[in-house]
Order: sequence, then C-alpha cells, then structure tokens
Amino acid sequence: MENQQKHQYTLIILKPDALVKSLTGNIITRLSEARLRITAARVTRVSKELAEKHYAHLIDKPFFSDLYDYFSGKVYGGEYERVLAFVYEGEDAINRVRKIAGQTNPNDADPISIRGAYGRINKKGIMENVIHCSDSEESAEKEIKLWFAPDDIIEEVYPTVIKDMSGVQARVWA
Ligand code: PPS
Repeated sequence: MENQQKHQYTLIILKPDALVKSLTGNIITRLSEARLRITAARVTRVSKELAEKHYAHLIDKPFFSDLYDYFSGKVYGGEYERVLAFVYEGEDAINRVRKIAGQTNPNDADPISIRGAYGRINKKGIMENVIHCSDSEESAEKEIKLWFAPDDIIEEVYPTVIKDMSGVQARVWA
C-alpha cells in the first residue's frame, strides 16, 4: 500500500488511432482527473527500432509485425504516422493513469475508461487501444529513458552523467 502512494513518473503514449479519431484533447482532459503534472511532451514517429525496444517482450510474438504497423500508424497512412508521448508525474501516477486508461483489451475495459470508450480490436486481432501507459516503476524508468532525453524533461527524473560529445555533428537551425 505504501508503494502505491509514492511520487511516481509514468510514460503515456497517445497512439495513432487517438490522432485519427481526433481524441487528443479529450484524452488529455480525461487524464487531468488524475491530478498529475505533465513533465515532458513530444510528437514523434515510431521507428522499427523504437518499437522493438518499447515492446521488447513481444518481438517474438506472431502478431508483432501487425502491432508495429498499428503502433507506427502505417495502417492509417502517412499523415498519421506519429504518436504523442508524455511523462506525467505525481502521487501514485502509474495506478491513477491506468485506472483512467482502463484494461489493455478494450473489450474487457470499463466502458467509461479511455480504452473502453474508444478502443477496438482490429481485423488482424490487434488491440487498437488508443493509449499506452507504464505498468510499473521499472517499466516507467525503462520507457521514459527510451522515449525522452534528459533535457526534454523539466525535472531531474533519473540520475544523469555529462558526456563530452565534441566532434559529434548535430543539425541546428540555419
Ligand atoms: S503481456 O502479455 O503482459 O506480456 O503484454 P503486455 O505487457 O500487456 O503488452 C501487450 C502490448 O501489446 C499490445 N497488443 C497485444 N498484446 C497481445 N495480443 C494482442 N493481440 C495485442 N494487440 C496489441 C497491447 O495493447 C499492449 O500494449 P500497450 O501499449 O501496453 O497497450
């Protein structure tokens, strides 16, 4: 119980179906019920490499290729090939968000939850469940470090080190 009331960080991804269905504002409003704070936000494409790291425990599943096509937005076409990623922080952040998101399978989720209200299972059996949220502090740390660089997060979330990157080329505004 003590663990559940801890100050926590959690990774939230609004998947491409959330964008296709124009649910972004609606979902962020729903998440505000959790009384947490947004600590980082970015819009990004999901490369194969990123998806393989994010869903590392599923790479060998027969549905992984279809899962990637959905998660990257490829099934919806070019303009939807993106996701919105957030770090939320606050007391009991992981459980509070998971409660509002609902169960992973939209068919099992509370109809009032985000996944219950907006998710579906597609013809290929992939759960188009609109939102991803971390399921433990361990996964949150792994996922946040995968999706965000330290300087993209406005809090000192995890320990960092300074690396001398001189000689490394970077793209800057012309
Ligand atoms: S497991 O079974 O506990 O290891 O999987 P889990 O950690 O819950 O993550 C499963 C993620 O894959 C997405 N997904 C599916 N899983 C299983 N079967 C099917 N058909 C399937 N389709 C999609 C599921 O939505 C989980 O991703 P997130 O982003 O957590 O919702």
